Amino acid sequence: MLPKGTFSGRVSVVTGGSSGIGEAIATELARLGSDVAIVGRKQDQLDAAATRLREHGTQITTHSVDVRDRESVEATVADLLARWGQIDHLVNSAAGNFQAKPEDLSPNAWSAVVRIVLDGTWNFTQVVGQHMIERGAGGSILSIGTTAAMIGGPSTVHSTSAKAGVIALTKSLGVAWAEHNIRVNVMTPGPTEGTGAMTFLFGGEGQWDEQVQAIPLKRMLTRQEAADASVYLLSDYASYITGHNLVIDGGRSLGRAGGVFGG
Ligand code: HXC
Repeated sequence: MLPKGTFSGRVSVVTGGSSGIGEAIATELARLGSDVAIVGRKQDQLDAAATRLREHGTQITTHSVDVRDRESVEATVADLLARWGQIDHLVNSAAGNFQAKPEDLSPNAWSAVVRIVLDGTWNFTQVVGQHMIERGAGGSILSIGTTAAMIGGPSTVHSTSAKAGVIALTKSLGVAWAEHNIRVNVMTPGPTEGTGAMTFLFGGEGQWDEQVQAIPLKRMLTRQEAADASVYLLSDYASYITGHNLVIDGGRSLGRAGGVFGG
């Protein structure tokens, strides 16, 4: 979608960058010229993703980090700055999730997911944001939302609540850091093909046939479409967009809005 070289000379950090939507965004950033650091928990998965990303010819580094661990996040950002001297873009795509009845969630189960999704996003966002402010060259930050954060997720109350926090964090920082020309946005996908959410969390893509028919556009989002929208928000082409939650769900969360008037 964007011209080649859109991100030349830029450095991007993508948490959760070795799979799913995170990898698709990292791929698009590399294809458009950015050096990319991918962050994840599993080194073998990071190595495999890095091999694929290097096909695009930019520098790719891997960082085995648990985003909940503040000290590791700080050390990783320090390493990146020692290597490159700058970070221009951050994508928070690391997530953890499972289905459970709310009444059955243990305190630790709630905490594990909230700490990955909300604290993890905060950890990277604050540490990278501090660097961007100090450097004085602006930057852009993108997090991944979920439509469940707006309409509810009865079997994923932990993840859904944390993602709602990510949206509020984004709106807050969009205003707070505007004076530093740091733009902060969320890309909120609906059900997306080839993601962990669809392949294991909600029981496999075959389970979705009926629900897909309820999506106004009658299909799931592709990872490429999610990545295209994401790199647009990260790029200078979106230079006046901040604190925004871009919902890309084929009209799913509006699906019932027609009601008796719309048929
Ligand atoms: C109930 C569970 C559970 C499950 C873990 N727990 N899995 N409880 N059902 N299926 C409980 C454990 O019993 C434990 O509580 C606590 O959660 C922590 O478990 P750990 O395994 O020690 O945690 P950890 O190793 O930190 O793993 C984090 C994880 C893990 C979130 C639990 O499943 C994970 O990282 N999954 C892979 C990532 C992922 O899910 N990606 C897809 C995201 S899709 P106790 O009390 O026993 O100690 C997505 C889309 C959002 O986010 C949109 C959808 C609404």
